[in-house]
Amino acid sequence: MMTYPKPIDDQSYLINSSNHKSLQQTAKTDPNNFWLDIAKRLEWMNFPTIAGNWQFQKPVSIKWFEDGLLNVCTNCVDRHANVTPDKTAIIWVDDQGKTPTHISYAQLFKEVNAMAFSLKELGVKKGDRVIIYMPMIPEIAYAMLACARIGAIHSVVFGGFSSESLSGRIQDCGAKVVITANEGLRGGKTVPLKANVDTALLQAPQVEKVFVINRTSAHVPMVAGRDIVYVPNYAQVVTPEPMNAEDPLFILYTSGSTGKPKGVLHTSGGYLTYASLTHQWIFDVQENDIYWCTADAGWITGHSYVVYGPLANGATTVMFEGIPNYPNPDRLWQIIDDLKVSIFYTAPTAIRSLMQAGDEWLETSSRKSLRLLGSVGEPINQEAWEWYFHKVGNENCRIVDTWWQTETGGIMMTPLAGVHNLKPGSATQPFFGIQPALLDDLGKEIDSNPAEGNLSVKSSWPGQMRTVYGDHSRFEDTYFSQFPGYYFSGDGARRDADGDYWITGRVDDVLNVSGHRLGTAEIETAATMDHSIIETAVVGFPHPIKGEGIMIFAIPGAHVTHSDDELKAIIKQTIRTQIGPIASPDAIHIVKGLPKTRSGKIMRRILRCIAKSEFEKIGDVSTLADPTVVEHIIEVFSAKK
Ligand code: WTA
Repeated sequence: MMTYPKPIDDQSYLINSSNHKSLQQTAKTDPNNFWLDIAKRLEWMNFPTIAGNWQFQKPVSIKWFEDGLLNVCTNCVDRHANVTPDKTAIIWVDDQGKTPTHISYAQLFKEVNAMAFSLKELGVKKGDRVIIYMPMIPEIAYAMLACARIGAIHSVVFGGFSSESLSGRIQDCGAKVVITANEGLRGGKTVPLKANVDTALLQAPQVEKVFVINRTSAHVPMVAGRDIVYVPNYAQVVTPEPMNAEDPLFILYTSGSTGKPKGVLHTSGGYLTYASLTHQWIFDVQENDIYWCTADAGWITGHSYVVYGPLANGATTVMFEGIPNYPNPDRLWQIIDDLKVSIFYTAPTAIRSLMQAGDEWLETSSRKSLRLLGSVGEPINQEAWEWYFHKVGNENCRIVDTWWQTETGGIMMTPLAGVHNLKPGSATQPFFGIQPALLDDLGKEIDSNPAEGNLSVKSSWPGQMRTVYGDHSRFEDTYFSQFPGYYFSGDGARRDADGDYWITGRVDDVLNVSGHRLGTAEIETAATMDHSIIETAVVGFPHPIKGEGIMIFAIPGAHVTHSDDELKAIIKQTIRTQIGPIASPDAIHIVKGLPKTRSGKIMRRILRCIAKSEFEKIGDVSTLADPTVVEHIIEVFSAKK
């Protein structure tokens, strides 16, 4: 295995050989004082005296800085608007390639106050839930921060989710206000956001008001008394709501192995402390950096590393509305040159798709402003890592491969650019204060190296999620039941002889498609919403660009007369309607039966072998209710390839 040695004693990094060891030591031996000291990076109305107060045994309870009082918006906006009003907070790059918009901290203050004022006028109060369903325009950040300012809990729903998904989330969190745009614009195509909201609200009539931001000139139908075109009123300054550190900041829905998506709840003080710290230390963000994370604000990466982390640090954060290959696969590289981006954070799926487009697309840019690269969302394969390092970064940039989850709020494992050796494909070491453990299937910790097991965490950290919104027992069951006393991530990992970690992927029924998490059960339920399909089984299979592709085996009803091609079109459309285009299957096989045990459980393991064409690994099928079904599925699968 190739390793890339650490930069020798480069003290220009914020975390370097001089301070790394002592920080690590304090975080380990005196976590309380370590985190209280770290909390000083925020501005508090009441500085906390307690750091962590938690237990992973049932009843699970997690609190950080519980006697602290602060406002997240003040921390991200006001304090920088006071000290560095002219510094650029956000550089917004639109889909169409117009001149980028620079928004200073002083302007951000004005915009966020205007939005907060309008929300207050609507009667939104502390603790109320607000759904944000918007494109990547600056207003999405204003909306999030405005909610934080008045103490409302936002829940951002990614614009690629359908009206069905949107309405499920609105109902689950009981939102009365939705903020949206008339349309979104991505890769030259419009996204009918407001129309989706209208459809969603047919099933969620409790929503009283819809704010509509006009992104395009399109006129969309407006419901009198409910829908309001947002017009900023700059005359007012809204006093920030004093929030307890443990008051909720946001809910973000994410898929699990069972049931409907869970509302992951993050609170104010711990989350912001952790997002801000990890952002600054891991990306080595210094005074004049131009930092760009390509994630959409609809995902946790967009929350922590486009909006909250960078703005809490008074940094300059780039916000991109478009997609990597529109109008051409050199779009990202052009933007890097144009804005002189120094720190760039993206997902392996984007790297792979641009790598596939060809090296010639790198020739129109120099990317010489770059000094640090990051990767997130899925394991990065060595080939993509090498291309990122040698070609994109011209061998001038260290790469941080960051492992974390919606649930963890911020990065949990990563090399530190000024300290660690880099190993292509390895997230290497836990961040300060994080105590990972590899557990065998019986829950026993494996201490030796090398080792492989279920990736868990032994002690809490400030960015940890606090509960599943409205369902604390689901929180306990999902993360703390399988291995009592530990937080279980759902990922598998390997620890090599040096003690460096390699994430091997999900060990539960969750797929990671282009870095997006999707539960197999969720897709199966969605596919059977059309009456022509009676049962389905979904598995992942290796996909050269997406990392993992979605394969569906579907059984049509006995009296269905559609052709296989018609059925496939129906399944695709049904899933797009139920979940959204991101869950659109990559392969569909219409079959007569599924491999089930005599008790009726689908043996996905067998389907996974078939999906990978690893027929020899299927093994003994004699215990199946109908062993002949396996041969039939292989036949269908092989014929359709
Ligand atoms: C996967 C995204 C390997 C993992 C921040 C995790 C990764 C899931 C990495 C969380 C990485 C994330 N290497 N796998 N560097 N980062 N993952 O909640 O399976 O959208 O459980 O959060 O992505 O996805 P989520």
